[in-house]
Amino acid sequence: MQSLHGISIPTKESEKVCPIHHVHLVYTDRVEPFCIKCTAERVEKEKRKAIDDFEINNVKRVLKHDSLVDLPEEYDCTFDNFEAQQGTKEAELKHRAKMIAYEAIKKTDKPIHAIFYGTPGEGKTHLAMSILNAVNDNANPPQKCLFIDINELINRIYSSFKNSNQLWTKDYAIKKLRSVDLLVLDDVGSESSMKSDTSEASNFIQEIMKKVLDGQKRLIITTNLTSQQLSQVYNPKIVSRMFAHSRGYAVDFSGIKDKRY
Ligand SMILES: Nc1ncnc2c1ncn2[C@@H]1O[C@H](COP(=O)(O)OP(=O)(O)O)[C@@H](O)[C@H]1O
Ligand SMILES: [Mg+2]
Ligand SMILES: [Zn+2]
Repeated sequence: MQSLHGISIPTKESEKVCPIHHVHLVYTDRVEPFCIKCTAERVEKEKRKAIDDFEINNVKRVLKHDSLVDLPEEYDCTFDNFEAQQGTKEAELKHRAKMIAYEAIKKTDKPIHAIFYGTPGEGKTHLAMSILNAVNDNANPPQKCLFIDINELINRIYSSFKNSNQLWTKDYAIKKLRSVDLLVLDDVGSESSMKSDTSEASNFIQEIMKKVLDGQKRLIITTNLTSQQLSQVYNPKIVSRMFAHSRGYAVDFSGIKDKRY
């Protein structure tokens, strides 16, 4: 009789010995001789792998499960489908975005404060999402990646003011945006055009931006506004924080033909 993980199995002892554990193999009428210890170790290893896989998937699913995008197709943006002829500005931008992805994958703790700016339709959103996809697919250990379309975020928070059952409250947003390993804030400043009063973004957006900039060390911002225009939307302290650590990571997309027209 042998007990394996609490299950009693009627076994007979074989003459053969396990070369690893130096114990006699056991067998039953139906099962060939095996080592109890080897079997226990294998089961333990499989259990551990199942737990690891579960944890890896929990991290990897954040990008598609928790992000807020304008259109679901945005998840499909990758470096592979970003067209760039050699020697063009597109190629340079793609190269810089790839370098950011590379650093994010290799150096888990390295602060990243990138800002992609320029006029609309130039590939800022595409390359920002490409970075997240590359990090999500290649980082080992995995990293939590989150894409937040600013307008979508603000719509969610507005509706949480009316309905307290909504997930995306202001406090949830701050906690979530600070907690991930790599964050994209897409279309920052565009929310100013949503409101009749464009002078200054509502206080709660300012508060979110400030707390996220303070607590999130790995962040990519995209915006269609210049730093001067951003200063009209946000408190100048917030704008200077956006650019503060972006040395070498401020990428000017202007001068590219709008791909949407
Ligand atoms: N070099 C490129 N190759 C392939 N598609 C591109 C390229 N640049 C932009 N696009 C596509 O054009 C559209 C507009 O680009 P987007 O990244 O949204 O611009 P931006 O965020 O700068 O306004 C998107 O559908 C994007 O996938
Ligand atoms: Mg965009
Ligand atoms: Zn053994």
